[in-house]
Amino acid sequence: MRRTARFLVVFLVGVALLAYLASSAVQRSTRRWSEADIAQHMAGLAQKTQPALLARWTAGAREPFEAMLTDLARDERITAAGACDQNNQLLARTPAFPRDLACAQVRQRMAAEREDKPTLPGLVWGSNWSLPGGEVYLSAVPVVREGSPLGLLLLVNDISIIERQGARLRQLLLMVFAGLALCAGLVALIAARLSWRGFRKELRRFILGESRRKEFLPIVADVRELVERIAAEREMDGPASAWNPQHLKQALVRHFPGEKVMVLANREPYIHERGSDGTVQIRHPASGLVAAIEPVLRACSGVWIAHGSGSADRTVVDNKDHVRVPPGEESYELRRVWLSEQEERGYYYGLANEGLWPLCHLAHARPIFRGTDWATYEAVNRRFAEAVCEEAEGEDPVVLVQDYHFALVPRLVRERRPRATIITFWHIPWPNGEHFGICPWRAQILQGMLGSSIMGFHTRQHCNNFLDSVDRYLEARIDREQNSVVQHGRATLVRPYPISIEWPSRWVASAPPVPECRSGVRKELGLREDALLGLGVDRLDYTKGIEERLLAVERFLERFPAYTGRFSFVQMAAPSRTLIERYRQLDETVERTAARINQRFGEGAYQPIILLRAHHEPPQVFRYYRAADLCYVSSLHDGMNLVAKEFAAARDDERGVLLLSQFTGAAREMSEALVVNPYDLEEASAAMARALAMPVEEQRERMRAMRAFLAEFNVYRWAGRMLMDAARLRRKETLLGRSSDDISSLRRLPK
Ligand code: G6P
Repeated sequence: MRRTARFLVVFLVGVALLAYLASSAVQRSTRRWSEADIAQHMAGLAQKTQPALLARWTAGAREPFEAMLTDLARDERITAAGACDQNNQLLARTPAFPRDLACAQVRQRMAAEREDKPTLPGLVWGSNWSLPGGEVYLSAVPVVREGSPLGLLLLVNDISIIERQGARLRQLLLMVFAGLALCAGLVALIAARLSWRGFRKELRRFILGESRRKEFLPIVADVRELVERIAAEREMDGPASAWNPQHLKQALVRHFPGEKVMVLANREPYIHERGSDGTVQIRHPASGLVAAIEPVLRACSGVWIAHGSGSADRTVVDNKDHVRVPPGEESYELRRVWLSEQEERGYYYGLANEGLWPLCHLAHARPIFRGTDWATYEAVNRRFAEAVCEEAEGEDPVVLVQDYHFALVPRLVRERRPRATIITFWHIPWPNGEHFGICPWRAQILQGMLGSSIMGFHTRQHCNNFLDSVDRYLEARIDREQNSVVQHGRATLVRPYPISIEWPSRWVASAPPVPECRSGVRKELGLREDALLGLGVDRLDYTKGIEERLLAVERFLERFPAYTGRFSFVQMAAPSRTLIERYRQLDETVERTAARINQRFGEGAYQPIILLRAHHEPPQVFRYYRAADLCYVSSLHDGMNLVAKEFAAARDDERGVLLLSQFTGAAREMSEALVVNPYDLEEASAAMARALAMPVEEQRERMRAMRAFLAEFNVYRWAGRMLMDAARLRRKETLLGRSSDDISSLRRLPK
């Protein structure tokens, strides 16, 4: 409204100025017209009276002359009249004729002005005349007989009438302008008030999602998304690259004051194992999920709830099953949940890893669905949901549910804590709707996940597949504009959040220099100092394409025999899920394949494939990353794959080449890698040759670009983005005084 008032003041001042200028112009014109009118009138009068005038002039009698002048002065426009002879003598005058008006002066002015002042031809000269008593308009009519001038008839007009008329006109004009200005101002004010009210009403309708103008919704949603995303970025007081542990922590404190973050993930970040010598050792599990989430919890504090799977896990927890971690840098709690062997079999090995894992990965492994596994999965999910509620301090906790082990937890927690902010992230791909349909418990799984406030996937494609699955198998409304699922009046936002790694990596900071890693690793492996080294780092999992990778090495040596004896490929393979038959088979196949290739191309101490089938701690893995000439990530299907990102992070020397399967989420972000189809052995082997021959400059360029991307799109940003979206959701719900069944509040969040 202040703006409207300012506008009104400016408007009125403008109008006043305009009125003043206009009225002055009108006054000037009126006067000009009036003078011209007088002159015209005087000319007519002079013409009419010329014969009588001549007769009087000739008669030379003063009295009839004066009587005639008095007659003339009866004209309403003439106040006085006089007659001058050729010698500038005033022959006759009416009583009101100004005494200060001398014939000689008149003649002088006439002579001076005749040049530039228009007169009615030969008849009348007229001009304003200032006298002590005021201004008059004086007309002089030459009296001529047969070409000879006899004298001048002077007619005095009262110019004050013109002045008065002009002033009145001006006044009138000013009043009209003022009236108009007031009316216009009033109208503007009313219009402004109405439109402001209307604007606010419209805004409110949009905010409340009540707008029926559906055709505008996509645009509004896009603009809103953009604005909110920019606002989210700006909120961190810096560019996107400013996401780091401190900023993440600040964002959390600012948006969720007093709340601690709870992470629920099956795999614990630190596993306490009892060694053969009886001592307790701490192991970092081989898990992309753990590598990504652990730095987030370090930054935010809070609690990580996980399955206590280590042989010495129970010995280090307190009476609430808590242990503070990271060891030596304690900053958050690890809450361990204990599972019996039977529970672990049904829930973890069974439903999660024999059912859902192959269901979600297109890697030609048949999912196995057992009713008993499902029952155990449900029961264990309930146990973990209870643990979450036990750890929650308030009615609206912030819970980050991780992965396919806990598809049912979001709904279970929602039932107990309706106001909770539940962010669920699915770390593996989501298959298309048709494929997902083979799961006997598809509806329960989807329902469970839809207890979340936000459902996150790595890619838009996975989000679309999820929405498609919901569309097929549930009674739910899908808001395609907002990418949310609305059910029973509550919505779940479905969003892509590509996961990443911590930047800078603490493992790189503590790693030896690259030349030291190169020579140390080569020595360890019994290789020549100048040996070329390829690297693979994975859990022994059939989705990772390890077999295809070894076959690509074989094909490479076939096609480029000059590398035999010089090139070795080291595969670090952490045993994984070993109770599952398919994993046992893989273990055997990989070993057999490696042995066959080694037999075929090996010579003396030279072995082209070096299989390290063991768990390796991160410092060791990072030494290998830094020692390698190329790293090959050949997943047949992978949500993201953080080995690719870790390899680039490890190479602060900007050397080394990444070969990356096109079937990873990472390939969408790291296009500077040599992206290959791992099934295509010709392409993969050619890419190996290209990598080994790649000029240093090209290696640098590619590596630099990937590292710059990772520095900006790090895991703090990943977590920050999800938390910001959740915070906005929570804020809007609170603003609208929402109970959990307010659908419309959820329509306004970014896609
Ligand atoms: C994948 C899954 C994670 C899992 C990791 C290791 O990355 O998405 O949830 O932790 O594999 O598997 P594991 O079964 O050993 O935890």
